[in-house]
Amino acid sequence: MTDCNTRIIAPSLLAADWSKVGEEVRRAEQAGADWLHLDVMDGHFVENVSFGPQFVAAVRPHTSLPLDTHLMMTRPDKYLDRFIAAGSDRITVHVEADHDVAETLGRIRAAGLGCGLSLNPATPFHAVVPYLDQIDLLLVMTVVPGFGGQAFMEAETMPKVAAARTFREENGLSFHIEVDGGIDQRTVGIAAAHGANVMVAGTALYGQADMAAAVAAMRG
Ligand code: DX5
Ligand code: ZN
Repeated sequence: MTDCNTRIIAPSLLAADWSKVGEEVRRAEQAGADWLHLDVMDGHFVENVSFGPQFVAAVRPHTSLPLDTHLMMTRPDKYLDRFIAAGSDRITVHVEADHDVAETLGRIRAAGLGCGLSLNPATPFHAVVPYLDQIDLLLVMTVVPGFGGQAFMEAETMPKVAAARTFREENGLSFHIEVDGGIDQRTVGIAAAHGANVMVAGTALYGQADMAAAVAAMRG
């Protein structure tokens, strides 16, 4: 298991060319990415619809990269088993969603997967504090989720990344701190300086002709 001080680069498939998704998945692996980030959107929790468990299952055989599945769904508990069966290596759910958060996190852990919790820019850090000893990844959204290509929300989100790092150190925990949204060659350094180690990027990686160079540059 990678420790929370190792920088992890996770391209978001949301920004890939879906007409050739197998090639795009292999492109990320060949470019030296560490994880593949899968942005699942239900059109209810967020104002967009992306893909479901069948798409995750279609991606699975094309890569050995860990599949980092991000459920932007109102009812992640209802569909959890399908995303587990599809081959996710880790699953992140939102604290704002309509489910028993502790129970959902327990089910993810019981399935042997990495267990993540996410909070949107408008959600205060204290909302996730009750769960920080039950997860191995905290995803601090750095945009309002729903679409790629948005601007990094530094003021609203970096204090929460810093607070998460402080809490982790003061409580002897070891969860990853992941950021997602507007992460590029400039903002990755800001996020890392505040304590983030898992960098999700769609536009800044899949939008580049030379993805390997972009991954290497983002690794710092
Ligand atoms: C939520 C999605 C996006 C995506 C990254 O909307 O989670 O943040 O992963 O999008 P970019 O990297 O293009 O901002
Ligand atoms: Zn995401």
